[in-house]
Amino acid sequence: MSDKTRSIHGEWSSRFAFILAATGSAVGLGNIWKFPYITGQNGGGAFVMVYLACVAAIGVPIMIAEIMLGRRGRQSPINTMQRLSVEAGADPRWHYLGWLGMIAGFLILAYYSVIAGWAMAYIFKAFFGGFFGTDAGEVKAMFDGLMASPLQQLFWHTLFMFITMQVVMRGVQGGLEKAVRFLMPALFVILMILVAYAMSSGAYERGIDFLFSPDFSKIDADAVLTAMGHAFFTLSLGMGAIMVYGSYLPGHVSIAKTTFFIAGADTIVALLAGIAIFPLVFANNLEAAAGPGLIFQTLPLAFGHMGGGWLFGVLFFVLLFFAALTSSISLIEPTVAWLVENKNIERRRACIWSGSACWALGVAVVFSFNIWSGHKWFDKNLFELLDYLTANLMLPIGGLCIALFAGWTMRQADTEQELEMPAQGFQVWQVLIKYVAPASVFLVFLHVLGVL
Ligand code: PFF
Ligand code: NA
Repeated sequence: MSDKTRSIHGEWSSRFAFILAATGSAVGLGNIWKFPYITGQNGGGAFVMVYLACVAAIGVPIMIAEIMLGRRGRQSPINTMQRLSVEAGADPRWHYLGWLGMIAGFLILAYYSVIAGWAMAYIFKAFFGGFFGTDAGEVKAMFDGLMASPLQQLFWHTLFMFITMQVVMRGVQGGLEKAVRFLMPALFVILMILVAYAMSSGAYERGIDFLFSPDFSKIDADAVLTAMGHAFFTLSLGMGAIMVYGSYLPGHVSIAKTTFFIAGADTIVALLAGIAIFPLVFANNLEAAAGPGLIFQTLPLAFGHMGGGWLFGVLFFVLLFFAALTSSISLIEPTVAWLVENKNIERRRACIWSGSACWALGVAVVFSFNIWSGHKWFDKNLFELLDYLTANLMLPIGGLCIALFAGWTMRQADTEQELEMPAQGFQVWQVLIKYVAPASVFLVFLHVLGVL
């Protein structure tokens, strides 16, 4: 069984600790910031349906596969893939999959940190009463002001990256395990409070209708790709983050049950965020397709008008910051683990190097919102380009390879032994991982290329 081997970086103290860390990685800006704004940009209901279908048919089986590969390989994704391909008698070039993931995590963190910085800036705006009694115009002006200021964004981006690296340096098991334990439920409670406020806002039904009544004429191939890419992004899949966390997982833990919990929690948080935000959008005649600023231009309105809004506003952005932090550490962990394993440098220095490089790219992302906003490639500024490249292309390609490896390259006896699922469950998983997941990703790509 797999507890014969253990990771050199340590192991989670329990199954519960792994669930917390993996849920912490999954639940983040993707749920509360990205899901609502891309839903708004892509017309609502039909987009949400495609996203949910992708989570169930592609995300869940691939998460099971990715955790399994990590637990069996017990190293950073690159070395895990190397070891497992040798074990399966396959081409060792599978380890390039680890590289792809490592680079994706690095590119994502560069902009993730900038957005997390916005959330930090809003903790202070909330604290100093900035939302009190505001109207839609003032809230928009507040956000535009932050966008126009490279200095403010740089300050917060730098602080967020610094905190991330401090946590990664200390290893994940310390304070963070404990913190997530109570922060996640707190985030859930505050989202419920926001949903309750949204129900009283007058446009609740329109918001629900927008989110859940599908009109498939509103989406095109690129929207489908965005929905599928977001399923990978939101579940932290396709780049080795969950693989590396799986490598610290003790044996004899049910991977399938754990996956259901993580994917379920992630989906619920995203839907609650949508239910809280869209009624506000319609009640205030705002633009659903406003883009990355959507939550920053809507939620302050709720906090500025509801009872206890000052306290809830501060709390909300503090919790959003923590949700981002528990995700950001998992974005850089594959790189740090690899540097420690292959370059023989200590964890501390590995953090300093990778963090600095990522920070520098983040500086360019900050500028893409102001002084460099005119610089475009394929009609996208740097932020949009990095997001498209990673979420829509690199993660799905990584996930496709993970599915092919787990479904076709590994010996079935090995996957069966590692997963220890009831026979029927295992069969269902096999069908999904061998056929459904890879074929879906492939078809969506063909669709985007216009072949299909
Ligand atoms: N899942 C995170 C979110 O939804 O915010 C983002 C993320 C974390 C993506 C880790 C990928 C990853 F490896
Ligand atoms: Na998520």
